[in-house]
Amino acid sequence: MLYSTYYFKSLESTNSKAKEMADNGAGSGTAVVAEYQTKGRGRLGKDWHSVAGKGLYCSIIIRPDLDPIEFPKITLVAGVAVSIVLDKVSNNLTQLKWPNDIYISGKKCGGILTESSPLTSSDASPYVVIGIGINVGHELADFPLELQKMVTSVFIETGIKHSIDDLLQTIRKELLFQIERFEDEGFQSILNEWRRKDFLLGKRMECVDTSGKIIEGVALGPDDSGQLHVRSDDGRIHEVLSGDVRLASR
Ligand code: BTN
Repeated sequence: MLYSTYYFKSLESTNSKAKEMADNGAGSGTAVVAEYQTKGRGRLGKDWHSVAGKGLYCSIIIRPDLDPIEFPKITLVAGVAVSIVLDKVSNNLTQLKWPNDIYISGKKCGGILTESSPLTSSDASPYVVIGIGINVGHELADFPLELQKMVTSVFIETGIKHSIDDLLQTIRKELLFQIERFEDEGFQSILNEWRRKDFLLGKRMECVDTSGKIIEGVALGPDDSGQLHVRSDDGRIHEVLSGDVRLASR
């Protein structure tokens, strides 16, 4: 099947553009890609640093045949799809940091921002926009100084400059395959694949949940519905619904 790809030199955010297009009826599999973004967004209102022509900045529209209650799991499914593709170009090095970061050699190489159609929408075929940002051809100097210890790119890891468009096409294919697998077989086998790549598992971490409460403890990985669990030092198990998840400093 042939899917449409819309290329832009510059956009504020490919996610915003893809949402606009999905609201106007764009079909499942449609991709929006920009050479750079002026207001690229990450999770929790953070900015996504988009260096012109060096990264993959794309959003793929999906209209899943799933109960919308299952949509939050799609972030993890997308993480598995992206990591399968990056494994092929980086010799099986990728890991996933809950819920949506792609890590190589312990550093962030990409992130995923999933946004759904408005809950109030009467759309018979609700959509999810999967925004994917990957550092492809970046050299270390392309990142702001304060990020340089925490980030990497496919080029830094492999010494190879991969075609951004080839990566987009391969990622879309893998993503649509994994979404179909989710629809047909359910979440568990994909989640098990995610667990094998869990970057945080067993590590001490700090999580600020949406109520602002700081939890510090050991990451236990996602439960069967994809929610991260953490064991704090008093032995209590906490479910991390959302929030900023980072390694603890001690
Ligand atoms: C994160 O790490 O918090 C998620 C980052 C997602 C960035 C991508 S770049 C393409 C798409 N458009 C956006 O504005 N954000 C996503």
